[in-house]
Amino acid sequence: MAFNKRIKIKHLLDSGKVGEQVTLMGWVRTKRSNKNVAFIALNDGSTIHNYQVVADPNAISEDILKKVTTGACIKVQGEIVASQGSGQSTELTVKTIEILGEADPEKYPLQPKKHSLEFLREIAHLRMRTNTFGAVFRVRHALAFAVHKYFNDKGFFYIHTPIITASDAEGAGETFRVTTLDLKNPPLDEKGNIDYREDFFEREANLTVSGQLEGELAAMALSEIYTFGPTFRAENSNTTRHLAEFWMIEPEMAFYDAEDNQDLAENFLQYVISYALEYCKDDLDFLDKRAAEEDAGKKADQRSDMGLLERLQFVTQNDFERITYTEAIDILRNSKPNKKKKFNYLIEEWGADLQSEHERFLVENHFKKPVILTDYPKEIKSFYMKQNDDGKTVAAMDILFPGIGEIVGGSQREERLDKLTQRMDELDIPQEEMWWYLETRKFGATPHSGFGLGFERLVQFVTGMGNIRDVIAFPRTPGNVEF
Ligand code: 4AD
Ligand code: MG
Repeated sequence: MAFNKRIKIKHLLDSGKVGEQVTLMGWVRTKRSNKNVAFIALNDGSTIHNYQVVADPNAISEDILKKVTTGACIKVQGEIVASQGSGQSTELTVKTIEILGEADPEKYPLQPKKHSLEFLREIAHLRMRTNTFGAVFRVRHALAFAVHKYFNDKGFFYIHTPIITASDAEGAGETFRVTTLDLKNPPLDEKGNIDYREDFFEREANLTVSGQLEGELAAMALSEIYTFGPTFRAENSNTTRHLAEFWMIEPEMAFYDAEDNQDLAENFLQYVISYALEYCKDDLDFLDKRAAEEDAGKKADQRSDMGLLERLQFVTQNDFERITYTEAIDILRNSKPNKKKKFNYLIEEWGADLQSEHERFLVENHFKKPVILTDYPKEIKSFYMKQNDDGKTVAAMDILFPGIGEIVGGSQREERLDKLTQRMDELDIPQEEMWWYLETRKFGATPHSGFGLGFERLVQFVTGMGNIRDVIAFPRTPGNVEF
């Protein structure tokens, strides 16, 4: 007989009927009992809601009931009945309980009390069993699914770009080296440098910092594609917005100019956020309350103007502000924090790179809505971005979100071979290594555009979690690779 004839709690809450005999499996959140009755709150992860299981201590062996402790995994079989208590409309009257896995209450680290997020990070192998992390990971799933649904419905093709690459031409960040050489005794060349010709790939290789360049090759054949894969950056930045391993979504479209690109990015973000609002209602209600509690503990000037749900609705219902880098610099130069020297990096002249304090000022104080910043100075952007006619700027766009800062980076691409190679020369990017990329500009080149969305930053925005380490199951950051 099959072991698994269980019904998921979500399904039971949606469509279970009084009188039905069902089997539930899940983890015990709490047990309250006296001589006559034991109330067990059971959770199986299918929903944030626990299901109340009611047992008669006189009908269940004491030995088994003793092992029904917080964290234990059990299988219960019984009948759905109308609940007498408040808080649920039905509950399960137990016929049998089977202990699937005990959890010694003296040793189980997760107690039915509030643990700090910092502590929970240290027990990431168990933290998904909490309401907060259960909610975060269900929302994360829904967002990932919405990403695929959005692009699939629009006729984009999902391309799997390589994780190991030999190019770091993008210059998006420090890379992680991939090698099978003996680090204690590496082969050396004539000059005494490590001889990568002896390495696995017979040249230097690293983990990818972006799938864009390969994505462009695919767009030059399939017209509209996207990637959604792991991305690695060895930046030593210990912030609440950076991971060494994160997931990035990179659509790339032939026949799109910069404005088409902005329209797509805005529509895409509004779609996936609306999807979460529609399909993750219970989890978002919980996270909305969690965020409000967290906010209440902050100083008045650090509290958000809007609650989480309000903020999500606002973003889906209002157009994003679109301004150029040049306009942003004017706003920032004349802003209060700049004049009163409150910014850590004061904005003095055109050409300055924007720090997250500036991005957040624009979004959170000035416009109070998402901002698409366009046409940055070419000096602070990548070589592949389309050069504007002014000779100074490129057709870049960054999308800035409240509480997050940069969530998307993208551009129209330079499809003119002469302009592209000239820029590569200026930046000392070797053309030989990029021959394949350059060939798309020689054979059937066309205007095209794309962007990259940091998936964890999106999940942060939607769940209201302040630290990026709390929206990926097992975060990798400098010094952290446990689990
Ligand atoms: O702005 P970035 O570096 O752009 C690119 O990599 C382009 N190739 C994208 C493209 O045009 N196809 O990165 C894109 C986004 C950022 O806006 C940010 O949301 C996220 O990726 N990101 C990170 N997220 C978490 N941890 C990090 N270390 C991140 N670095 C970038
Ligand atoms: Mg960027």
